[in-house]
Amino acid sequence: MKVAIIGGGGLVGSSAAFALQCGGVVREIALIDVNRDLAEGQALDLQHGTPSVADQAISTGGYEQIPDSDVICITAGLRRKPNESRLDLIHRNTGLFLQILKDVAAAGPAPSAIVLVVSNPVDILTYVAAQQLNLPYHQVIGLGTQLDTIRFCSFIARAINVAPTQVSARILGEHGDSMVPIWSSATVGGFPLDRHPNWRPNLAHEIFTRTKGSGAEVIKKKGGAGFAVGIAIRDVIHSIALDQRRILPVSTVQSGCYGIRDVALSVPTVVGRSGVLGRLEIELWPKEVQGIRNSARRLTETLKQVLPSVG
Ligand code: LAC
Repeated sequence: MKVAIIGGGGLVGSSAAFALQCGGVVREIALIDVNRDLAEGQALDLQHGTPSVADQAISTGGYEQIPDSDVICITAGLRRKPNESRLDLIHRNTGLFLQILKDVAAAGPAPSAIVLVVSNPVDILTYVAAQQLNLPYHQVIGLGTQLDTIRFCSFIARAINVAPTQVSARILGEHGDSMVPIWSSATVGGFPLDRHPNWRPNLAHEIFTRTKGSGAEVIKKKGGAGFAVGIAIRDVIHSIALDQRRILPVSTVQSGCYGIRDVALSVPTVVGRSGVLGRLEIELWPKEVQGIRNSARRLTETLKQVLPSVG
């Protein structure tokens, strides 16, 4: 399995590469970046670690890396300013992103390639990528709310003092201001979260607010997300590489789940070697479903503004 990371020199791309390296699952990691020196520096640094991790190839280059890549992960793009929403970014990022899509298409991705969109606003750009690339929709996946989901679980774990890997709770909808916390199915150690002795109902608001604001908080404090987004990318890529068929909250163009269609956002999605294997319309609380539909409405409005300029 070869993974090409476009924007591989940047904080997000190089963190994803490092997470994949530590995972030791994929065979080759190729870093593509307009800043070639930076990509080469990152690759060299990663290469130095290979003897202690796994027999992986680390490479750099341009779009000639695309045709034999199994996963093409697009992380390139401008970063938000601390007080800017991910949707505000669209006006600055769309042109750049369209050029990347053109370059990917011109390079000729393998017919079975999976494109993983990470650049923001991820739901909008996932929709644009699905439209512009000559690949089936089930092969275009946005990172969606996978990052928000692991942030959410990490805050729940800290709040009630339990092991983070034992918390299972999801964020769905938009990777942005209208994201939706799914409390109805949150568990810890396999038991309902709200039955844990340390749980207090007033924690819910606090935890979700911190989760939603986490992207901005990290930008303010260290310039942007790196480690956790790298791990979230790895979650998705390993599910593809190992054909794990994990249910992940990733963003894809919807075709009826929760009554939503023709917009990309996150719902429980089965991810395997051929991309999206299915979506699960799991029963949720009515207000959670309303929240996801509200995300769909907001994103559809934004798409209406963006699509005319995409052509
Ligand atoms: C964040 C960016 C990656 O949430 O969207 O940190």
